[in-house]
Amino acid sequence: MYPVIYGVNRHTVQTRTIKGVTFPKGSNVYIPIFHIHRDPAIYPDPDTFNPDRWSENTVRHPMAYIPFGAGPRVCVGMRLAVFELKVAIIKVLRAVKFSTTKKTQEKIVFADSSFLMPKTPIVLHVERR
Ligand code: HEM
Repeated sequence: MYPVIYGVNRHTVQTRTIKGVTFPKGSNVYIPIFHIHRDPAIYPDPDTFNPDRWSENTVRHPMAYIPFGAGPRVCVGMRLAVFELKVAIIKVLRAVKFSTTKKTQEKIVFADSSFLMPKTPIVLHVERR
């Protein structure tokens, strides 16, 4: 739901036609990662946090989920990043419990940046386990 990078660019070195759309040589093509991940045709009700959508036996296009980009220039740190994130989340969640408060925003407003980040800090209550 919250890919760190909104999208990636590619520069065409040859003219190519894909599904009837011609990309002339030398074009800049923007691949909108965030918007692909919020496309209701791929993820019904995309703004809802629903981890179960990943446990369903759903077959998706290989490019339907690309937080680390794709192809020859895919993020080289992808596996390390996922591993680090899992370890960090496990360590934090074993130590503390998060809950929402009256001050927790209903909807996250994003900062004006090429990285996806909230405009204001996300307010949560933190309690030791
Ligand atoms: C959650 C963490 C991370 C995310 C979401 C992320 C995402 C991305 C994305 C979207 C790209 C562009 C891929 C493309 O153009 O198709 C990229 C490239 C890259 N990432 Fe990451 N990245 C993460 C962590 C890391 C880490 C931990 C490292 C290094 C240890 C790393 C190193 C790189 C490098 C070197 C590239 C450029 C690859 C190239 O152009 O050939 N990234 N990353």
